Amino acid sequence: MFFKKQKTVVTDQLPQLDKTRIPNHVAVIMDGNGRWAKRQNLPRVAGHQRGMEVVKDITKAASDLGVKVLTLYAFSTENWKRPETEVGFLMKLPGKFFDTFVPELIEKNVRVNVMGYIDQLPADTQRAVNDAIAQTANNTGMVLNFALNYGGRAEIVTGVQQIAAQVAAGELQPEEINDATIDAALMTAPLGEFADPDVLIRTSGEMRLSNFLLWQLAYAEFVFIDEHWPEVTPAVFEKALAMYQARDRRFGGIAENQSDKK
Ligand code: IPE
Ligand code: IPE
Ligand code: MG
Repeated sequence: MFFKKQKTVVTDQLPQLDKTRIPNHVAVIMDGNGRWAKRQNLPRVAGHQRGMEVVKDITKAASDLGVKVLTLYAFSTENWKRPETEVGFLMKLPGKFFDTFVPELIEKNVRVNVMGYIDQLPADTQRAVNDAIAQTANNTGMVLNFALNYGGRAEIVTGVQQIAAQVAAGELQPEEINDATIDAALMTAPLGEFADPDVLIRTSGEMRLSNFLLWQLAYAEFVFIDEHWPEVTPAVFEKALAMYQARDRRFGGIAENQSDKK
């Protein structure tokens, strides 16, 4: 038997993005800033600086595509372990970012939200964040949701403490606790119907959650891409969304074309 050798397609052909099926809530673990910088003999903080510019580009791209919530993991509750100079640089970034970018956010009708233990941040970081929230509070377009000094386990601990206090006060019976009780006790509660991400994108090739949105990602699609965050362009972002669109979300059910019904 003679088989004609099948030609393998090795071109980097991107799946086409369907602009009518843009996910509502896109969450991103922006990773690889330090490695990107090191690769070109720059200090790690140069990667964070460049990464901040990328946040601007991707925010505009996501808003133009019609994303409802863009959640960006900017600083985890574990990132305090880094050298003091790097942490100091990261703490100054929100100020730099909002100083120059709030007018564009207003123009794009984007509202800023921040989730995390904000009261533990340096005073000027808190001020920068709170000002941006106030200045964009009336915008009705995309929510740009920063996870800043955020950790999924810490969030659950705080939420459980809140629920336990309600039970101890006699306001809530243990058997009344359900999914909605827990949703309401988490930091994503203000996002309402869009609290759970549809897709989680992590850059730089790492495949772990690093304590991000542990409850909320229960049925998200995970998209891992090799690009470091400073290398992410709107085209790369669109590629990640197209990868999401190629998935079959079943939520425990079965796909329509797998049904036994004729
Ligand atoms: C992501 O890039 C930014 C933050 C975590 C603040 P990293 O700083 O983690 O970069 P790598 O992973 O060390 O390359
Ligand atoms: C996760 O990245 C946190 C942010 C992107 C802010 P890390 O770089 O801190 O995660 P690990 O340490 O590689 O798991
Ligand atoms: Mg990292």
